[in-house]
Parts: sequence; structure tokens; C-alpha cells
Amino acid sequence: MLGRLNHVALAVPDLAAAAETYRTKLGASVTAPQSLPEHGVTVVFVELDNTKIELLEPLGATSPIAAFLEKNPKGGMHHLCYEVPDIIAARDRLVATGARVLGDGEPKIGAHGKPVLFLHPGDVHGTLTELEQV
Ligand code: CO
Repeated sequence: MLGRLNHVALAVPDLAAAAETYRTKLGASVTAPQSLPEHGVTVVFVELDNTKIELLEPLGATSPIAAFLEKNPKGGMHHLCYEVPDIIAARDRLVATGARVLGDGEPKIGAHGKPVLFLHPGDVHGTLTELEQV
């Protein structure tokens, strides 16, 4: 069911500073910031040969990463995203095993314009896990 690792997401308190670190200190290719109000984040992608790093900054008062940054004020690893060929089939298979899908259980459109959903970290050994249909 799982395909490639699509990205590793890092929550950061200052997106501009983090993007600059990746661009200048680490010498990586970094995309322009993209605001995703439906997800409560602004994102930048660091483009690597084999995957991407998603840098996340809170957007709006009810951002889902605000609490994470309160606990991790310098930022840190927030979630992993795996590609799946059919997100509804993947969700139904996971729910049948007792896994919990966050939100209303329906996929939302993610930063790449493709359907995504998140699995409760408590059902994936402590790591927030995103699935993206590609
Ligand atoms: Co993500």
C-alpha cells in the first residue's frame, strides 16, 4: 500500500529564517512560501533528489501546529508523508484495522493539489503520519 516517502515535515517558529538556513547554509533548492488556510499552515518545500522537506509555520489562530511549537519552541520533526495510489482504499483498509483518521475522516487537498489525510500518531507508534494520493 505504501509507496515512496513524499516528504518529512518540520514545524518551525520562523519560516523565513528556516527557508534561509536551508537555502544558504545547507545549499538546497527552496520553493516560495505557500499559505494553506484550510490546513492552518504556511509551507515551503526544500527539494532534494530523493524526497522533500516540508517546513511548516502556523497560519491563523487555530493552527494545528501551534500546540506542537509550544512544546517544541525551536521547532522539530512534525510528520512523515507517504505516497499511496488510492487514498480511499488506504483509509478504508486502515480504519478496518482500528486506525484513526484525523478530522472528519475525509481527504483534504494538500500542498501539492492532491488528496491527503492524517493518521493519529497513537496508532502509528508515536509519529503523525500523512498519506498523499499520487
Ligand atoms: Co505534509
